[in-house]
Amino acid sequence: MVSFDPFPVLSTPRLRLRAIEPGDAERILRIQSDPEVTRYFGRAPFSALAEAEQRIAVVLEGVRENTSIRWGISLKDSHELLGTAGFWRWNKPHRWSEIGFELLPAFWNRGIMTEALRAMLSFGFDRMDLHRVEAQLDPENRACMRVLERLGFAREGLLRQNWWYDGKCTDTAVYGLLRSDPAGPAA
Ligand SMILES: CC(C)(COP(=O)(O)OP(=O)(O)OC[C@H]1O[C@@H](n2cnc3c(N)ncnc32)[C@H](O)[C@@H]1OP(=O)(O)O)[C@@H](O)C(=O)NCCC(=O)NCCS
Repeated sequence: MVSFDPFPVLSTPRLRLRAIEPGDAERILRIQSDPEVTRYFGRAPFSALAEAEQRIAVVLEGVRENTSIRWGISLKDSHELLGTAGFWRWNKPHRWSEIGFELLPAFWNRGIMTEALRAMLSFGFDRMDLHRVEAQLDPENRACMRVLERLGFAREGLLRQNWWYDGKCTDTAVYGLLRSDPAGPAA
């Protein structure tokens, strides 16, 4: 079984996927307090640094206990965090995990998340021995759907009105990618 110690840094042509650190709190607050980023999350944006610090503490605990992993995404020549992506709800006995990801809007639509997730999915299938990767999202989140489809995920279903937030109930789309599925088209 894979160990996250030492932390598995991943490299892609443009990006470095590295460990998230306590010093990333300001940047995580900036990302997670942006209403454009959290628009489809079904929860309020962060409003205090303590929320980002708490998020980092949860990420570090998951990595330490080998139960989940989240990478900080930065450009190769910079340490500055542009976003994060990772596996959570890792069901080890049944060999599947859910993914989550988000990026600063200034960097959207340059193929960054598709590139980051491609590396992360290879790690998940090859090193975490996953058989299935799942994504759950608001069906209005078109950019997210597009990223998943390009990576070869199939839309598998819709959980009807399972998320109550801010006075209304929304559906959740479920996407899945199997180890045996063909990869999506090249970037
Ligand atoms: C989803 C997200 C991570 C995508 O990151 P990104 O680096 O911009 O993704 P990419 O550039 O690799 O791909 C985006 C794709 O969505 C498409 N897209 C973007 N906005 C779109 C929209 N409103 N409608 C349809 N397609 C859209 C882009 O054209 C691109 O597809 P293409 O390469 O075929 O042209 C980013 O939009 C984000 O952080 N959103 C907020 C957080 C979020 O929703 N996370 C996902 C939770 S499930």
